[in-house]
Amino acid sequence: MIKNIEFQLGIVGLGVMGRNLALNTAGHGYPTAGYDKDPKKVSQFRKEAGGLPVQGAEKVSDFVALLRKPRAVMMLVPAGPPVDAVIRDLLPHLDAGDLIIDAGNSHFTDTTARGERLKKSGLHFFGMGVSGGEYGARHGPSMMPGGPEEAYSLVQPVLEACAAKVDGDPCVTYLGPGAAGHYVKMVHNGIEYALMQSLAETYDLLNHGLELEDSQLADLFHEWDQGDLHSYLVGISADIFRKMDETTGGHLIEVVLDAAHQKGTGMWTSQEALSLHEPTPTIDTAVAMRNLSGLKQIRTAVTTKYGNQQHPYRGDRKTMIAHIHRALYATIILSYSQGMSLLRAASQEYGYNLDLSAVARIWRGGCIIRSALLEPISAAYRREPQLSSLLLDETLGKAVAQRDTDMRVVAQTAASLGIPAPGLMASLAYYDSLRARHLPANLIQAQRDYFGAHTYERTDIDGVFHTAWEQE
Ligand code: 6PG
Repeated sequence: MIKNIEFQLGIVGLGVMGRNLALNTAGHGYPTAGYDKDPKKVSQFRKEAGGLPVQGAEKVSDFVALLRKPRAVMMLVPAGPPVDAVIRDLLPHLDAGDLIIDAGNSHFTDTTARGERLKKSGLHFFGMGVSGGEYGARHGPSMMPGGPEEAYSLVQPVLEACAAKVDGDPCVTYLGPGAAGHYVKMVHNGIEYALMQSLAETYDLLNHGLELEDSQLADLFHEWDQGDLHSYLVGISADIFRKMDETTGGHLIEVVLDAAHQKGTGMWTSQEALSLHEPTPTIDTAVAMRNLSGLKQIRTAVTTKYGNQQHPYRGDRKTMIAHIHRALYATIILSYSQGMSLLRAASQEYGYNLDLSAVARIWRGGCIIRSALLEPISAAYRREPQLSSLLLDETLGKAVAQRDTDMRVVAQTAASLGIPAPGLMASLAYYDSLRARHLPANLIQAQRDYFGAHTYERTDIDGVFHTAWEQE
């Protein structure tokens, strides 16, 4: 038991994330109090603390009494009703001017509502995305805080100390008012889905099309991770392909079920993008493919009825691997591009006033979508904060254009082999649609006017028109 210390941060929820984050902040010299209703979690926390300046409490009143005023309390509890339950628990013990931070993956609309409610009691409320899993929480996550700016100074030093660092720069910054932090984390996860889907398709093509074995895949992904594709997700994929299974003696990936789960943040991103009219086709496809992968019974029935139409590749493997590498790089840029454009739209819609260069900067370390590409992405928005699309940035636009042929070759090859590559194809179609001189939306306009008298515009005369389209 540590006596006579004013704890600078209180953490509620001593599960894996909360415990590790508390050990991280304490390890950086910020005495941290932890609270959980479950005494087992509190004792686990105490056990893991070693000599660090932490204290565990099983009662909310004891916990709050430990904290320095104005208090800073961070919740790491599952999104949804548990967040409201904890707030209810804390409220009678807190004073005006105290800060509550929700560091879970809450839906941004919940965060907006909670912030407004708590403001009435004089409390500050932050929604903060935390990325990096258990390891990140303990050794340096990327953190995305948003809320009333005047309260940020209460936690800025501790957040900067415990965040991941890239060239000494902490992967955390104040993002904006209201639910800006949770919104940015939601889009982070949408991009995460798109990148994971692109990597999964790449794996499928290499494994089932080019017949590369798991150890060759491990070597190839490792090599890519050393070059321009350097990223957390490429790196962990290499580790995954290398992992052996104790039960079968073979590679573990071979016996992992091909039906992916999801908690919903990718879906939220797509839903939000649709409601803001911002196209994010690669993210949408990634969500749809998780859903499709989960239809295991239907998939089996359709396979049985129609047979598996996949064929191995018969061309030059080395050349195709080079195409796949370059197409993947372009797809990744296009995935980030969709996410960043959504953030730009949301910033305007909700008044978040996001600095997109700073968003990309704090994603360079600690988080799941960290990659070498975030440096040029951050630089692009630094050069032009109002950039409407990453494709209009000289460096990144050129990088995609130079890989135009690679994307087409890979899409054609996937289609001819019968290997689904919808993420890559959606990215290519996004690119082609944005650059197309003409889209067939003129026919859609005319159809709407035909059946619903919805009117249309013309290219040659200003105004709004309606035509009786039916032939006499
Ligand atoms: C992160 C992750 C993290 C979590 C996702 C998983 O940034 O650390 O995104 O938030 O792993 O919630 O999401 P799904 O269950 O939807 O795949």
